[in-house]
Amino acid sequence: MITGKMKVTDVVKAYPEAVELFNDFHIDYCCGGKDELEKALQQLGIESKSFIEVLNKKIVNQPHKSNKGHVLAVERLAEMDIPVLIDYIIDTHHSKERVLLAEIDELINKVLLVHYEHHQSQLVPLHRLFSDLRKELQEHFAKEEKLIFPFMKNSFTESKSTGFVKELEDEHEGAGNLMKEITACTNDFTPPEDGCASYRMVFQKLEELVKDVYIHIFTENSLLFPKYEGGIGQ
Ligand SMILES: [Fe+2]
Ligand SMILES: [Fe+2]
Repeated sequence: MITGKMKVTDVVKAYPEAVELFNDFHIDYCCGGKDELEKALQQLGIESKSFIEVLNKKIVNQPHKSNKGHVLAVERLAEMDIPVLIDYIIDTHHSKERVLLAEIDELINKVLLVHYEHHQSQLVPLHRLFSDLRKELQEHFAKEEKLIFPFMKNSFTESKSTGFVKELEDEHEGAGNLMKEITACTNDFTPPEDGCASYRMVFQKLEELVKDVYIHIFTENSLLFPKYEGGIGQ
């Protein structure tokens, strides 16, 4: 049973299929996931009692309708040792997001040029936000892959350092804020009526990227880092 006092991140750990509803209502389960669900809902102006009722009805009380793939994935990730989980994060999320960043980068330049005249008020800020996100994510992935993840894989309990966990969490928060701005700037990834196929493709790929990064950050903040700090899986 889901209650308002549960942390958002704990709701996702216990009921991963809540992610879809959380995405629809912009409930932050990665960077802001440490907040209680009730507080997160209040901040968004959502009436918490009825929302939690719907959540329980849809997810907890109808498990046969739940997305089993999600459930199994989170259970499987939670059981992985740190080196295996790190390899999974790189192979699954870093690789996919690098491809999406490159594809969007090329497409968004094309769309900016073609639709500048009528849609500059949306496309110019979107181009800037995406460029900032791309730069931050690429640098963040390099830091994780070349510096922090090798250290996490090889360190023993005595030589643990938690300073860089905070550093990565802060960077996740920065990326999370940019993604919220991108979501608002694209009207929830809804292209304009006169948007061409490339315009629609940019929005579709941006949405795919944002959803993947949310799950990626959740996996690091809520599964990998607590496992590392707790010394489990060493
Ligand atoms: Fe990562
Ligand atoms: Fe990260």
